[in-house]
Amino acid sequence: REEKGECMSWKNLRVNGRRLQESLETMAKIGATPSGGVQRLALSDEDKAARDLFCSWLKEIDCEVTIDEMGNIFGHRPGRNRALPAVMSGSHIDSQPKGGRFDGIFGVMGALEVMRTLHENRVQTERDIVIVDWTNEEGSRFAPAMVSSGVWVGKLERDWAYARTDINGKTQGEELERIGYKGTVPAKAFPLHANYELHIEQGPMLERYGKTIGVPKGVLCLHWYDIYLTGTANQVGPTPMAGRNDCLLAAAEMIQAVNKVAHIQGDMVGTVGEIHNFPNSRNIIPDGVHFTVDVRSWEDAHALSAWEMMAREFQVIADRHGTHLRMETTWRVERAPFNPGLVDNVLEAADSLGYSSHYMVSGAGHDCSYINQIAPAAMIFIPSKGGRSHVEVEESSWEDCEKGTNVLLQCMLKSANE
Ligand code: GLV
Ligand code: MN
Ligand code: MN
Ligand code: MN
Repeated sequence: REEKGECMSWKNLRVNGRRLQESLETMAKIGATPSGGVQRLALSDEDKAARDLFCSWLKEIDCEVTIDEMGNIFGHRPGRNRALPAVMSGSHIDSQPKGGRFDGIFGVMGALEVMRTLHENRVQTERDIVIVDWTNEEGSRFAPAMVSSGVWVGKLERDWAYARTDINGKTQGEELERIGYKGTVPAKAFPLHANYELHIEQGPMLERYGKTIGVPKGVLCLHWYDIYLTGTANQVGPTPMAGRNDCLLAAAEMIQAVNKVAHIQGDMVGTVGEIHNFPNSRNIIPDGVHFTVDVRSWEDAHALSAWEMMAREFQVIADRHGTHLRMETTWRVERAPFNPGLVDNVLEAADSLGYSSHYMVSGAGHDCSYINQIAPAAMIFIPSKGGRSHVEVEESSWEDCEKGTNVLLQCMLKSANE
C-alpha cells in the first residue's frame, strides 16, 4: 500500500524548466562564440571550467563525485539498496569547434535537473542514481569520438586512448593531467540496471512530423577512416599538366567517390569532413593530403561493403595520378539496437505526460552506443530547430528541453524503483 502511494507521488513529479534553462544558459557562457554557439573542445580550458562548475553543482545536492582515469565524471546519489545495479544518465560537456549550446550539455544538465528535482523533493529511490559526463564524446580534437565510454565498457584500451594526439601533437593523457581531470578510479564499468541518455535530435525528423519526443530504436554504426596521399611537389607554372602527381586532385576525385558510393544504400551516409593539404600554397602542386571518411548505416555489413568499394576506387584513382595511398581504419562502432524494455519506458513516459512521440533511428553517434554493449540503454530526443546541429545556430526550445527532461525523470524513477 505504501509502495503504491509512493509510486503515485513520483508520477506527479516534474522538473523545474526555468532552473534547467538557467543551467544551460550558464554553461553556454563557457566557450561562447561571437555568433551564439559554443566552442568547448575536449580537455581545453573551457572544458575544464565547465567541468569544475558541474562538479560544484553536483556537490551542492550531496552527490558523491568521482573522476576516473579517463576524466569521466560521475555523481552518485545513493538509493535505499546500494547493492542493486544503478540507473545512470548523462552525456558530454565537450563540443565541436564552433558547435552549439545543446549538443551534449543538454543531456548532462537534464540529468542534473532530474537529480535536483529528486533532491529538493527528498525522493528516495530503491537503486542508486548516477549522473555522468563522458570525456571527449565529439572526437574532433582527439579522434575517435566516444573514446571514454569506449574505454569504460572495455572496447578501447586506456593507454591507446591516452596516446591519441590533437593537431598540435598534445596527447589526450597529457591534457587530462594538465586540466586536473586524470582521476585514479579505474575507467571500468560498474553494474547498471539501465542507462538513459537525453539529447537533441540533431536532425530534421521531429520538426518535420511535428512531434515532441524522439524515441530512437538505436544508433547507426559508425566507421571512421583516415586517408593519406603522397605525390610530387613542384612549381605550378613550369610543370605541364600531363604527368603531375597532384594529391589534392586525386583527393577531389576520392571525395566524389565517397559521395557516389554512399548513395547506393538508402540509409547510408558517407562524408569527408576534414582535409589537410600540404604544403598548402597556391603555387605549389600539393604533395601531401590527409582526409577523413565517416561512413554510417543501420546495417554494419552495408557500411563495410561500402568502405570496400570506396577503398577500391581510391586505389584506382591514386594509381592514375601516380600518388601513393595509405588507408587507416581509425575506429568502428557497431550499430546499437537499444533495449526494447527501456525504449518502451521512454514511449510510455512521453505518452503519460501527454507529449507526442516519434519512433526513429539516431544517425548521430552517442556514448549510449557503447553503454548499450554492456547494459540496457535507451535515448530520449527533443526537436532541433531547422534540423541543425554541430553548428553555432543549433537550437531547441526551452519548452522542449523541459519536456524531454520530464520524460527522463519519469524513466529514471521507473527504472530506479524496480
Ligand atoms: C558525434 O557527435 C557524431 O555523431 O559524429
Ligand atoms: Mn552529442
Ligand atoms: Mn556532437
Ligand atoms: Mn555525438
